[in-house]
Amino acid sequence: MYRGLLPGLAAALLLAGSATRAAEPPPNGPLGGPPGASSCTGCHASQKIANSEIPRIAGRKAEDIVTFMRQYRSGAWPSSVMGRIAKGFDDQQIDAIAAWFAAQPE
Ligand code: HEC
Repeated sequence: MYRGLLPGLAAALLLAGSATRAAEPPPNGPLGGPPGASSCTGCHASQKIANSEIPRIAGRKAEDIVTFMRQYRSGAWPSSVMGRIAKGFDDQQIDAIAAWFAAQPE
């Protein structure tokens, strides 16, 4: 009886465990933010960096960031790297990331 129960119990625990994990956002950078945002801050610094070639996006309007990302993704606007990067995100992810950047101090 004990032996018969154990695999079922283990499976139930595993299922519960993975359900809990799925609800948690993946680990992110020190600033937190939605999934993917930490990949942006690697290039788009959250603090002002003198002479940076890369435009700052923290504190920008969310709609503007969304527009940029969609245009880059479709190829409508030329870019060196953003076209490739934007293709990795769907509309919901872009919305979440844009809202988060908009809420960051300029
Ligand atoms: C590899 C470095 C790099 C990463 C990572 C990166 N960007 Fe960019 N981003 C750039 C560069 C460089 C530009 C200027 C356009 C170009 O040449 O692609 C830019 C431009 C932009 C712009 C337009 C801002 C303006 O005023 O022109 C937005 C918005 C933007 N990125 C958002 C993001 C978001 C959101 C992410 C994360 C999903 C991200 N970027 C990740 C390098 C990066």
